[in-house]
Amino acid sequence: MSETIAVIPGDGIGREVVPAAVRVLDALDMGFSFAMGEAGDDTLADTGEALPDRTVELVENSDATLFGAAGETAADVILPLRAAVGSFANVRPARAYPGVDAVKPETDLVFVRENTEGVYSGIESEVAPGVTTLTRVVTEEASRRITEFGFDYAEERDEPVTVAHKANVMRTTDGQFVESVADVAEERGVEYDAALMDALAMQLITQPEEYGVIVCPNLAGDVLSDLAAGLVGGLGLLPSANIGPENALFEPVHGSAPDIAGEGVANPAATILSTAMMLEHLEYENAGSRVRAAVEKTLEEGPHTPDLGGSATTEDVTSAVIERL
Ligand code: NAI
Ligand code: MG
Repeated sequence: MSETIAVIPGDGIGREVVPAAVRVLDALDMGFSFAMGEAGDDTLADTGEALPDRTVELVENSDATLFGAAGETAADVILPLRAAVGSFANVRPARAYPGVDAVKPETDLVFVRENTEGVYSGIESEVAPGVTTLTRVVTEEASRRITEFGFDYAEERDEPVTVAHKANVMRTTDGQFVESVADVAEERGVEYDAALMDALAMQLITQPEEYGVIVCPNLAGDVLSDLAAGLVGGLGLLPSANIGPENALFEPVHGSAPDIAGEGVANPAATILSTAMMLEHLEYENAGSRVRAAVEKTLEEGPHTPDLGGSATTEDVTSAVIERL
């Protein structure tokens, strides 16, 4: 039990919800050591860099990272940090909880999103004034890797797998993706469904209960997981994991929420649930499920922060979670 966790609160409510999650970890008394790192808008203002090299080194040398949110510098911070942990899979559970109003209370989905390529390859150019292009990169290697990860994840949880794609239009790139998925499924002898991502967007709203683990190319995973966030009662509840072969970074899906930053009323649930994912990833399954259960009980019985219709502070909710651990 000598894990080193890099802790990067970042900007805005990141500085409120990350300390809350660290309080929960401290209460578990796991003997973790925490290494604090700086990144974000304030770091840019102070040092001239949104993501100093020493923060990247801290992440590379830790067993896992807990990140809050950055503000306007988010893309300059989180994309390199995900790269620093070699993250190829972005795992985003979207689940409704008893005690919290949800558009679809039966929602219990996990998006497994390819995190390295697709239209987020970064290869864009302006080929002539007013004419721009983007190169969508899809490789067999990355497609197989995300599929293996998604199948493993679903198998452990006994959930069905749906693969989102648009191979009827993007015949070569998503053609590669669906072919890789089919190869992996055949080798493993497992079943899955393939769904056109636009039709799937509608199905997820009308019948979310039909789905379990959804394996997606990069952009589809980004969009569909935010759509699912809307089904379950808001951003304050959604955790995520960025998994690499030997390292990983955990963060709430939400941003720095400048509209409520500094008021002490941010919902810490997303970040505390991200911590539960971190514990499970580090193979402290028991501690992870204790944290998850304590958050669920608190969501069910309160207290609730204002985003969930209550009047509790971040600290009240965190203390209630710790009491229930
Ligand atoms: P946001 O997620 O920060 O906020 C959207 C809305 O949800 C706001 O009304 C906010 O008050 C509310 N909200 C979010 N998290 C909450 C929580 N834990 N408790 C209660 N209410 C919560 O997204 P927005 O407003 O689009 O972006 C704000 C800033 O955050 C921008 O500068 C953006 O670049 C950055 N951002 C950073 C991300 C990251 O670091 N990974 C991700 C998304 C946005
Ligand atoms: Mg997004």
